[in-house]
Amino acid sequence: MPVTGKRWETVFEPYRTKTVEPLGDSTEAEREKLLRACDYNLFRIPAEKIVIDLLTDSGTSALSAEQRAGLERGDESYAGSRSWSKLEKTVRELTDMREVIPVHQGRGAEHLLFSVIGGEGKRIVSNGLFDTTRANLLASGAEPWDIPVLEGLIFERNDPFKGNIDTLSLEAELKQNGDRIPIVIMTITNNSLGGQPVSIRNIRDASEICRHYKTPFFLDACRFAENAFLIKTREPGTHGRSVEDIARESFQLADGCWISAKKDGLSSTGGIIALHDEELAHQLRERLVVVEGYPTYGGLAGRDLESIAIGLRESLEEPYLEHRTQQVALFAESLRRVGVPIVEPPGGHAVFIDASAMFPDLAADLHPAATLACEIFRTGGIRGVAISAPMPRRRPGNAEVARMELVRFAIPRRVYSQNHLDYTAEIVEDVLKRASAVPGLRRLDANQHVNHFGARLEPTG
Ligand code: F0G
Repeated sequence: MPVTGKRWETVFEPYRTKTVEPLGDSTEAEREKLLRACDYNLFRIPAEKIVIDLLTDSGTSALSAEQRAGLERGDESYAGSRSWSKLEKTVRELTDMREVIPVHQGRGAEHLLFSVIGGEGKRIVSNGLFDTTRANLLASGAEPWDIPVLEGLIFERNDPFKGNIDTLSLEAELKQNGDRIPIVIMTITNNSLGGQPVSIRNIRDASEICRHYKTPFFLDACRFAENAFLIKTREPGTHGRSVEDIARESFQLADGCWISAKKDGLSSTGGIIALHDEELAHQLRERLVVVEGYPTYGGLAGRDLESIAIGLRESLEEPYLEHRTQQVALFAESLRRVGVPIVEPPGGHAVFIDASAMFPDLAADLHPAATLACEIFRTGGIRGVAISAPMPRRRPGNAEVARMELVRFAIPRRVYSQNHLDYTAEIVEDVLKRASAVPGLRRLDANQHVNHFGARLEPTG
């Protein structure tokens, strides 16, 4: 591959473009009208009006020529599809786990898992749960318990592994409440706290503690390849290893995992659960048949199974990962250079702007994150996502007080060029210069707890 064994400084895209799609388009006046019509909720803006869409890195990857060929090869047999055997083999090789279960996407896996192991009185401990994971375990009656390391909550700190779990708290939790903790989850990378990676050391330590207390240790491994690459580049003692080798060790340290194939599966849809426990796998499959599909397709078409089998391998290619993480880092640098406050250091899939720091004079009830995301859209047609959530409790027992108000720009895989991101940085800089004049947004809907999909807002000025 061109960028390995390098003599030259430039990191470039290890692919060339074969199919192009025009960007969406709209004028500033049109976007102003659209914002009013959509109650300042960017989820409701028609995608064709968005110039650069950084809402999510989920299901938005460009497929490779090999994946497109795989779509044609997809075997649509209801049971025992050839494409399923290929995906099952790929996942077994990657994870060393025998039981492999397909699902329509990550949250399908979460729903299955918590409907079997969740329930009233249970507590699910983690380094940081994604929204859907939290929602699914809450729906089962269980209680989420995030114990990230403290540095993960200080956005300006530049530590390499701010996604880690606090192992002292983990041990204390398992010691005190082990009988009601059915599972410990490590989210790699830690999306809710800025896409921060988890070190292999932390995965080993957490795995050992869980083994000691006989509690299953699962990975939410949506971004397993990005996490492994960031380990390779940031963690002493790992530089000589291949990313695949680091990813495999991460899986070997776990009892089970699920992967949303919409992220590091480089696919438009899909997900996978993999685990060792045959009895649990049996229970999951019983439920799978009712809510997702037969165990050799799990709600997916044969062509999706092919795309995922190929995508999981491609996501571990190091030139691709090197370019991807460099793209995120350069974008972060272009924002940092002009004084935009971001969550440091940038992780694998996104750059997060600290909207409270960008609008220091805006009251918290005027939704700094939504205000910033809408103003960026109005100015340049760029869509990010406003994240407004309580900070995870710092230690078990402490009240949740602070809120985080972030705007996330997630970078779709193999889709945008550095110029698209330079343009984005230019627009954010323009908003920063006018920050004190941007009016905040107030909620129109009575229920302030409705999540961001349903929010309705209006400007205060
Ligand atoms: N876990 C993590 C860490 C995620 O980031 C996501 C999705 C899921 C689970 C759920 O997977 O979407 O396939 O059902 N994250 C997307 C995002 C939606 O924009 O970050 P899914």
